[in-house]
Amino acid sequence: MELKKVIIAGCGPGADDLITPAARNAALGADVLIVSSRLERLFPESPAERIDSGVDIEGTIRQIAARRDQGKQVVVLATGDPGVFSLAQPVIRHFGRKNCEVIPGISAVQVAFARLGLPWHDAVIISAHKENPEITARELNACGKLVLLGGRTEGLRWISGILKELGADRRVFLCEELTLPGERIAETAPDELTQLRVSTRAIILAVRRDLFDE
Ligand SMILES: C[S@@+](CC[C@H](N)C(=O)[O-])C[C@H]1O[C@@H](n2cnc3c(N)ncnc32)[C@H](O)[C@@H]1O
Repeated sequence: MELKKVIIAGCGPGADDLITPAARNAALGADVLIVSSRLERLFPESPAERIDSGVDIEGTIRQIAARRDQGKQVVVLATGDPGVFSLAQPVIRHFGRKNCEVIPGISAVQVAFARLGLPWHDAVIISAHKENPEITARELNACGKLVLLGGRTEGLRWISGILKELGADRRVFLCEELTLPGERIAETAPDELTQLRVSTRAIILAVRRDLFDE
C-alpha cells in the first residue's frame, strides 16, 4: 500500500473568506483532520476524524503516523500560512519533505502589513507565542520592520522590553484579532503593551519611522 502524503493546509488568519479553496478542498477530502482549538470550528461539514493537536507535538506526530500507516489521508490544519511558526516544521522534519504537501494560506502577518499599506518582503518575524526567543535588541536593531508574534502576557513583557531598548525611532502597532469581528489596530507605546488587555491573537509591528515615507 502506498502511503498518502501528509497535507498541511494553511487556513488563513481567521475570516472564512480568507480560507483558500485549495485548503477547503484538502480539508473536505481528509479522513483525519489535525486541529488546534483555534481551528476546531472549521469545516463542520467534514465527517473526518478530528484529533486535537494540543500542545504535545510528539504525541500528535505519533497519531498522524498511526493513521497514515492505515492508508488514511491526514490533513493538518494550520492557522495563517504553514510557513510562519506552525506545526508544519516538526511534521515535515518527521515525515520528510517528499512525504508532505504544504498548501499555503494567508498569514496574519500579511494581513497586518496590508492594513498598514506597507510591503513586508524585508520584515523579520520573531515569535514569542509559546516562549520568549533567545534574541537580543542588539541583534534586531538593523531590521527596519519587526514582526513580533504573541499575545501571551510573558511574551508581551519581553516584547515591550525589546522595543524599549530599540528606542524611539520606531512606530509600534498592536494588531489584534485580524480579519475577525473584533479586529483592532492601534499605534501604541512599548510601555502600554504590558498595561493593556491584549488578545491572545496579537501581532506587534515595530517599523522604523522613515520607512513610512518610502
Ligand atoms: C503559532 S503562530 C501562527 C502564525 C500563523 N501561521 C500565520 O501565518 O499567521 C500564532 C500567532 O500568530 C498571530 N496571529 C494568528 N492569527 C492572528 C490574528 N487573526 N490576528 C492577530 N494575530 C494573529 C498571533 O501572534 C499568534 O500568537
